[in-house]
Amino acid sequence: MSVQNEMKKRRTFAIISHPDAGKTTLTEKFLLFGNLIRESGTVKGKKSGKFATSDWMDIEKQRGISVTSSVMNFPYKDYQVNILDTPGHEDFSEDTYRTLTAVDSVVMIIDGTKGIEAQTLKLFKVCKMRGIPIFTFINKLDREGRDPFDLLDEIEGELGIETYAMNWPVGMGKRFKGILDRQNEQFVQFTGNETETSIPYDEINDHPELAEDETFASAFEELELLDGAGVEFSMDAVQRGEQTPVFFGSALAPFGVRTFFEEFISMAPQPAPRKASGDMISPDKEEFSGFIFKIQANMNPAHRDRVAFVRVCSGKFERGMNVTLDRTGKSIKLAQTQQFVASSRETIQEAYAGDIIGIYDPNVYRIGDTLVEGKETFHFEELPQFPPEVFKKVVVENVMKSKQFKKGLEQLVQEGAIQLFRSLRSDEYIIGAVGQLQYEVFEYRMKNEYNVGVRFEDIGERIPRWLKSDQVDRSKFDDRSLLVKDREENYLALFKNDFSLRWFQDKNPDIDLIDLFEVN
Ligand code: G4P
Repeated sequence: MSVQNEMKKRRTFAIISHPDAGKTTLTEKFLLFGNLIRESGTVKGKKSGKFATSDWMDIEKQRGISVTSSVMNFPYKDYQVNILDTPGHEDFSEDTYRTLTAVDSVVMIIDGTKGIEAQTLKLFKVCKMRGIPIFTFINKLDREGRDPFDLLDEIEGELGIETYAMNWPVGMGKRFKGILDRQNEQFVQFTGNETETSIPYDEINDHPELAEDETFASAFEELELLDGAGVEFSMDAVQRGEQTPVFFGSALAPFGVRTFFEEFISMAPQPAPRKASGDMISPDKEEFSGFIFKIQANMNPAHRDRVAFVRVCSGKFERGMNVTLDRTGKSIKLAQTQQFVASSRETIQEAYAGDIIGIYDPNVYRIGDTLVEGKETFHFEELPQFPPEVFKKVVVENVMKSKQFKKGLEQLVQEGAIQLFRSLRSDEYIIGAVGQLQYEVFEYRMKNEYNVGVRFEDIGERIPRWLKSDQVDRSKFDDRSLLVKDREENYLALFKNDFSLRWFQDKNPDIDLIDLFEVN
């Protein structure tokens, strides 16, 4: 099959949500549709450790978590589905954000009893800044939740994206009867089991138990209100990430999940052209190209090997092919490769735009590297830098090991495992991370790979704001607005909390405080 046909079938997406919104439950249903697992509960076992297929790093074993975002792929009807997992909870890290640079769309799950929560908001910001199309699934309709209008309002207000309800719930919790499917003008009945029966709107009068039901009547009234509000569904706006189609359902029941999945993958975009060296690289270009969005070290401590995750952007990848690494201009043979399936790592023979492959990394790759077939290289747009949230001063335990300490620090920073800052006053090293896990990985790797013990001094969660260099007046900054420099010598202030940020802003209205999320 041609490169073009293969590419068109790809649906590469991530599921974003706050812990407990139902990501595992929904993912599991998708995997059941794809016959990747045979029964419910397989993925859920993750929490009890049963799903811990990875013993790559001691730290993973100790914590019972997966440090990597794994990739699940399966064919479904005419599509080839690639789901990238975005780690949450305590294993939230920059990798979670970076994963979003490798997808073409995103499913956002919102717990209907809670609404938008912190982690959803953070991940959403990345999608927004990259213009990634977002499809929303409002979950847990089988429980008494919040008013659906309120939820839509909240999405629009807090996330700044237009919503278009694809369906509308009839009751919720104990009164949950099903959904009104706006596209197909039919009522889909919740029967309590997995069969979903549909009744076209114009046949509802033949069902007096529905036609005379109060919950049903008010759902129809709400639908009229919604129609009256006049929001038109726009595929263009969805593709640009300006409108999100919203589906209501229950991942657990399950109800509305298959419909959601099918509509989602039929609407979700295929791999799009990507910016590289001032050009757009089309996914149906004959020559293979891709970029590295993640490097996982120490997957096998005995061999110290590392795996680089490559998002294929064009052409056809074939095992054993030669590619050029744009940063060094060197030719590399891609012999040891693997495709990531939920429970195992398989050797992969070929892949197309949209696919994610893992390649063996003999310590030559960096996050953001581009690989190109042939000699004519180019570079995919740099991955954005993400604002860290947790900051710690770091010192070497034994000063005799300062040299190794610096070397390890430098390499781990280059690899994108952590971000490094220097405080202006005392010239100390401050490392910034998106989540706590990054410190544990950092400490572990310093010890195991560089034989250096490190100590951290907590400076707590901080809100970083970048500054224009001509606006930096050192006397205006103190401990609550700690002035530091990043690796590119840009100034930034680390504010202790929202209050100190606002206080500073009030006192210094002429200093621009730049949020990385806004500029990337
Ligand atoms: P996560 O991966 O986003 O963290 O969420 P997960 O799927 O693990 O779901 C979190 C909890 O919410 C689980 O309950 C799960 O059963 C429940 N849940 C998910 N979808 C629905 C839904 O549509 N309706 C209802 N009522 N509950 C839902 P738990 O008590 O934490 O786990 P378990 O003991 O049920 O396995």
